[in-house]
Amino acid sequence: MSRHVYVETMGCQMNVYDSERMLESLGRAGYESSDRPDNADLIIINTCSVRDKSEHKMISLLGKLRALKQHNPELVLAVSGCVATQEGEKLLKRAPQLDLVLGPDQIGKVGDLVAEVRRERQDGGPARLVDTELFGKKGYDFVRAEPPTDGRVTSFVTVMKGCNKFCSFCIVPTTRGREVSKRSDEVVAEVRMLAETGVREVTLLGQNVNSYGKDRREEVDFAALIRAVAEVDGIERIRFTTSHPMDCSDALIDAFADVPKLMPFFHLPIQSGSERVLRMMRRRTVIEDYVARVDRLRAAKPDIAMTTDIIVGFPGETEADFEATMQLLARVRYASIFSFGYSPRPGTAAARIEDDIPEVEKRRRLHAVQALQNQITAEWMAGFEGAEIEVLFEGASTAHARGPDSAATMARGVGQKPQLMGRTPQNLKVNVETDDFYALRDWPGRLGRVRVSHVGRHSLSGSLLELGPAGPFAEAALRHRFVA
Ligand code: SAH
Ligand code: SF4
Ligand code: F3S
Repeated sequence: MSRHVYVETMGCQMNVYDSERMLESLGRAGYESSDRPDNADLIIINTCSVRDKSEHKMISLLGKLRALKQHNPELVLAVSGCVATQEGEKLLKRAPQLDLVLGPDQIGKVGDLVAEVRRERQDGGPARLVDTELFGKKGYDFVRAEPPTDGRVTSFVTVMKGCNKFCSFCIVPTTRGREVSKRSDEVVAEVRMLAETGVREVTLLGQNVNSYGKDRREEVDFAALIRAVAEVDGIERIRFTTSHPMDCSDALIDAFADVPKLMPFFHLPIQSGSERVLRMMRRRTVIEDYVARVDRLRAAKPDIAMTTDIIVGFPGETEADFEATMQLLARVRYASIFSFGYSPRPGTAAARIEDDIPEVEKRRRLHAVQALQNQITAEWMAGFEGAEIEVLFEGASTAHARGPDSAATMARGVGQKPQLMGRTPQNLKVNVETDDFYALRDWPGRLGRVRVSHVGRHSLSGSLLELGPAGPFAEAALRHRFVA
């Protein structure tokens, strides 16, 4: 009987990618993936420590899992990801139920580490392991991704790890180490492998993707990497995340202008509209330059949706600083933003300054930026009313309707129309209802022209005008979709 592994993924897309690699590695070691923790023989929490709240989420989950450990002494409980690097050995003291702590650079050997825990347990040894060593360019190989078997239309591709920027508030350089770029031929090979399983859209991932290649003299830059990925047959759409404004090069802006597969969507975190705060944050960004870049991006790609991250309540942020952030939002008119109250992180430069903005004031500022942004987002969204848009269909819009032949779909009975979910070039979700009974089988992986009939708060709905051709690897995708 095979063993089961349950992985709980917190944090950013890089953790999502890493969790997939861990599942593949464990699959080779005989583990089957489970979507429930209670029947698992191995539970991994892939953690984030970017804010205090993220860390608390892990602590509360660990608490809940404690009971499972009492019922099943065979269970191995592991913590991976950024809290693992941040806390290391200390985690074992904080959580006596924990067996294994592994860092982001150990995901490829998770199978070996778990086996070692089990072996030591049998031998009556201490059976608790910590391995969170971070590697630089030498001694590090990216874990190779296996072909996905879930019939997915979109996929992540990590192209680099780590960060060299050391913004004063940020824990990432500590938890993920220095920047290391994946070789561009490896990236292209991975994208080709994905395309051959029916993937039509890839999102290139890194904490700082546009400094891609700077750690390797022989390597191309990020704009050239995008161009190389755009050459891959079957790939229709390219996205990337996330970027530091400092490295938003002219070459990248040019790529937006002349690589049609590069989607009009750019997440470019600014953090604050105040020069003074940006200096304290060590962001090395000047507002005027940033706004000029946004203008140039919009000239290069007129329909581009800009998004950003904002931190409010950074130590010493005055009312005037905060107003400058509000003004920036009104000036740039982002499609959407992520906003956070400042949270001091251990070992960062900002943690040495007093966290002097009271929690209630952080919340007030947070509500104010969100209220302003909601209004801007609604106005931007209203522009799609009645529009004809291009949608890449991904699958069913409800979780339970898997396909025309699945029991769930049958059980829903005759007369229920299939509902498809897809995305616009600007990454907005679109729901489309259709009379085509085979749509759930035939549409995923295809582009279609859609007429928008309803604009929601964060998504659209509409009806299909015309369905594009199936991709070159559609048959392989279909096999996966129905075997999976
Ligand atoms: N590499 C990306 C950011 C990754 S972290 C970049 O440079 O833009 C994602 C977001 O979390 C950041 O953009 C920031 O807005 C937020 N964040 C990071 N550290 C934080 C902290 N200590 N407190 C509050 N928000 C934080
Ligand atoms: Fe953190 Fe700054 Fe690096 Fe982004 S660029 S991951 S905010 S240190
Ligand atoms: Fe969180 Fe680490 Fe990602 S801190 S945001 S999981 S890089």
